[in-house]
Parts: sequence; structure tokens; C-alpha cells
Amino acid sequence: MDLRCFLALSLCLLCIFPHLAHSRTRIPVLLEQKKTEGSVIRLRRGASSATFDPTRVSQLSWRPREGSVIRLRRGASSATFDPTRVSQLSWRPRAFLHKGFLSEEECDHLIEIAKDKLEKSMVADNESGQSMESEVRTSSGMFLLKAQDEIVANIEARIAAWTFLPVENGESIQILHYEHGQKYEPHFDYFQDKTNQELGGHRVATVLMYLSNVEKGGETVFPNSEGKLSQPKDDDMSDCAKDGYSVKPHKGDALLFFSLHPNATTDPSSLHGSCPVIEGEKWSATKWIHVRSFEKSLIKRATGGVCSDENDNCPVWAKAGECKKNPTYMIGTEGLLGYCRKSCKACSS
Ligand SMILES: *[C@@H]1O[C@H](CO)[C@@H](O)[C@H](O)[C@H]1NC(C)=O
Ligand SMILES: *[C@@H]1O[C@H](CO)[C@@H](O)[C@H](O)[C@H]1NC(C)=O
Repeated sequence: MDLRCFLALSLCLLCIFPHLAHSRTRIPVLLEQKKTEGSVIRLRRGASSATFDPTRVSQLSWRPREGSVIRLRRGASSATFDPTRVSQLSWRPRAFLHKGFLSEEECDHLIEIAKDKLEKSMVADNESGQSMESEVRTSSGMFLLKAQDEIVANIEARIAAWTFLPVENGESIQILHYEHGQKYEPHFDYFQDKTNQELGGHRVATVLMYLSNVEKGGETVFPNSEGKLSQPKDDDMSDCAKDGYSVKPHKGDALLFFSLHPNATTDPSSLHGSCPVIEGEKWSATKWIHVRSFEKSLIKRATGGVCSDENDNCPVWAKAGECKKNPTYMIGTEGLLGYCRKSCKACSS
């Protein structure tokens, strides 16, 4: 039967048995769903069924028992986000990418306020929780202060709106700088040690914001992700990025992923790293979000009768004059205590 003949016959059949058209269109849809199970599923951008309108969402309260009702300003650009720019990368781990989460100006501002305050990045020791230098992490970085200025406060409000997790559960934003060859080997964002877990409990989610484009390398890679094998590998990717599901840094984009399962157990598929920068440099900003209030537990620790430092480097930093140069971080403000109050002699025990 030639093609024209076949089409004519199909058309006739469809006129007589219109339900055939339905069964025909349904089969490929079902096959498609099977095929993507366990691989990378993308929400269709702007698809009405799988997205929602955040300007119609109002936040009623972060803590119902305290009786105060806080509303996000409707449509306020700082505390809302655009779900049509969000694509879901993977369910194992739960990972989402928001294109253009930060404006160019916000990216440049974050780099500007961080760039003369960078220190070699540390890692937490698995057992004691003490921070230490490690070849596993070769970037340099620094912590901003919560709501350090209006731009930072706006970004923090937007993160809370996107993640549905309150600002107070977040640590202050950490700015990181990776130069040629610098990297962060795959690791988990949840802590193994007890000391760090006391501060707000486990980290449940991480928002990683890219502040610069990177010519080559510097990808975020998830070596245990379900999408590891199905992601197409192109020549643009570094070898490190090919070893997992990877996200290429684009200035302004933000990656959100969860380190805990919905049942609150740790998710090993959230293992992730920052591939070595091959060409150019990488700037990023990280917001770690805990299961409980991080702010409250810091204050509790600091006012629990002990005058303490929250970081082992505090004495060194204080000697180097950081109490004067970076007082918001070191000593704190009225609203939030700093991290090196003891070394800065801002309290007495
Ligand atoms: C700490 O834990 C990580 C991840 O489980 C592991 O790869 C690393 O070897 C451990 N480091 C030490 C010093 O035990
Ligand atoms: C929690 O959820 C994960 C992922 O669905 C599952 O593998 C694990 O067995 C669950 N653990 C408990 C204690 O329910």
C-alpha cells in the first residue's frame, strides 16, 4: 500500500472510529513516561499544568504559634521568583535550576563586597566538626552577614520565597572564588559531626548561585545523580563534569538541591562537587538552609553563658585586624551576633 493510500484509509477509519485517534495519541505519551522514569525529567517551560504563579502566593506565617502573620509583598520583585525560569533537573537528588535568579547588578555587587575579604576555604572535620584546610577544597571564600545590605536582604527574601524555607533557617551567604585549577571535590552538605548538627540541625537544602560565567570547567557535578548516564555529554564539558550530572555555571543562574529526603533522612545522591576551573575564573554564592532556625541556635550558643568563637580561625583573624575591618561578621550587629566575639573581646566569660 503506498503512503497516500494508507493516509486516505487512516482518515476514513478515523471518521468511522474517532476513538482510535485517542488511543493512538495516548500510546506514545505513555511510552514517553516510561522512558523518562529514573532519568532526567524536565518541566516544560511555561507549561500551565506544571508551573504556578508565585505572585498569587502569599506567605501567611513562618511560625504559626507566635501569632504574627508576615506577608510577602505581592509581586514585589525582590521576594518573588519566576517559575517559568525554573527547570527540574533530577528527583534523585531533588535538584532545580532557576535561570536568571540574580540580576547582573546583584552578581557584581556580591563579588564587589567580598573580593578583598577572601580567605582560603576550609572543610569541617568529619568527627570533631573543626574547620580545617584541605586539598579537597582549594577555593577561597568569605561569609557575608545576614541582610548585610538591602541587596543581600532582597536576595535572602527571594531564596526564602523560592525554597519555602524561612530566612532564619539559612546560614549567611558564603561567597566563593575559584581560580585556574581550583575545585571542591565531591562532598555532602549535611554534616557527619555532632557539633555542627547542633546548629539548626542538618542542612536540608543548598542554593548555589553563579556570579560569573566560566569559559571552561567549574561545573557543579553530581556523581551519584540518577541523570548521570542520560545527560548528553558534549565537548564543551570538562572531563570532571562528564563523571556525573553536571550544571554549567552561567552568571545569574541558581541551583537548588536538597540534601535530605522528604522523610528527613540524608540523601547520598546529593553528593556534589565543583570541577576544576580550566579557563577563566568562577565566582559563586552559597546559601545553606537548615531544618531548624540557624539564627536562634547561634544566639543560644553565644548567650549560653559562654563567650566563644564560632570559628577556629578567629584568633588569627582578630590578630590580623579583622575585628575592625569586618566587624559585621566578626562581632555582629544588634540583630545578630558575630562569629568571633571572644577573640574580638566583644564579650566576657
Ligand atoms: C570524611 O567523609 C567523607 C565523605 O564520607 C570521606 O570521603 C572522607 O574520606 C572523610 N574524611 C576523613 C578524614 O575521615
Ligand atoms: C526515606 O526515604 C528514602 C528515599 O525514598 C528511602 O530510601 C529510605 O528507606 C526512607 N527511610 C526511612 C527510615 O523511611
